[in-house]
Amino acid sequence: MDSQFMDHVISELKERVRTGRSPREWLCRFLRDNVEKYNWVGIYLVREDKLVLDCFSGEKTEHQQITIGEGLCSLAIVKDSTVNEPEVKKNSTYLACFPSTESEIVVPIRKNGKPVGEIDIDSDTRAAFSREDEEFLAKIAEIISSSID
Ligand code: SME
Repeated sequence: MDSQFMDHVISELKERVRTGRSPREWLCRFLRDNVEKYNWVGIYLVREDKLVLDCFSGEKTEHQQITIGEGLCSLAIVKDSTVNEPEVKKNSTYLACFPSTESEIVVPIRKNGKPVGEIDIDSDTRAAFSREDEEFLAKIAEIISSSID
């Protein structure tokens, strides 16, 4: 991922958060449309004991809600840290969404130090997510945090 692209995403996202122009929807669509290995991009929000799908870009998923405790999405919340799984098919915690998915990254979004949601990205490429993706998405999660009530 080139740094100009990452800078563009960050500045556009900040502007959209500031002006309230659908920052989360924009982010999901923009990342999926522009990063080849990001095949599905979604944001889940913590609502009581569930993760509720807030917005996404890609195929429709049956996982509109996930009970906290299930899947890699829950693990990121419970552990309060990024989950970067290079081979989902080898991970028994993984909750299957799309047959084509090979790897997945889940990055918590925190507010006042507590996880309130997450960015979830599925890839059809094995081990698609690098340390650079982790850092980029963590920065994005920090920015998006103030758009969540
Ligand atoms: N694979 C996720 C479920 C959500 S879908 O990837 C959109 C999980 O293991 O929690």
